[in-house]
Amino acid sequence: MRTVLVLVSLFSFALTTSASADENDPRVKRAWKAKCASCHGEDGKGDTEQAKKKFGGPLRDLTDAKVQERFKDPELRDMITKGKTETKDGKEVKMPATPEIAGEQLDGLVQFVRKLAVKK
Ligand code: HEC
Repeated sequence: MRTVLVLVSLFSFALTTSASADENDPRVKRAWKAKCASCHGEDGKGDTEQAKKKFGGPLRDLTDAKVQERFKDPELRDMITKGKTETKDGKEVKMPATPEIAGEQLDGLVQFVRKLAVKK
């Protein structure tokens, strides 16, 4: 009886862990490439054509640990789902909302953004 219980709990553990998305999940990488990389660059450095065209210059470097300190995880989630408007060099710049990124994909994307930071 005990063995059965252990097996059942092991099995459900395996199920839940394989279902949750993390920064290595291909769905998360696809979301970053499809919804974020056009402005931020695949590497997160923010030095993209799109950024220059739309915002007049590169975006903040998300690989910089100092930049990562600017926001907490819940703020990052909010930014992704609701978008964000701020003023840059006296001009209003707008990051679009992507409310279609939700649940585990959102959790995974937050981790993904954190992993962009490189230790210097
Ligand atoms: C249309 C261009 C655009 C897209 C697409 C975009 N962003 Fe942004 N993002 C911006 C702008 C503009 C800012 C604010 C200015 C800056 O950080 O230089 C910003 C800022 C950020 C910041 C830093 C905020 C801060 O206060 O330091 C993070 C993190 C971020 N975006 C993540 C994402 C993620 C994740 C996605 C995809 C879901 C995404 N962005 C998609 C334009 C974009």
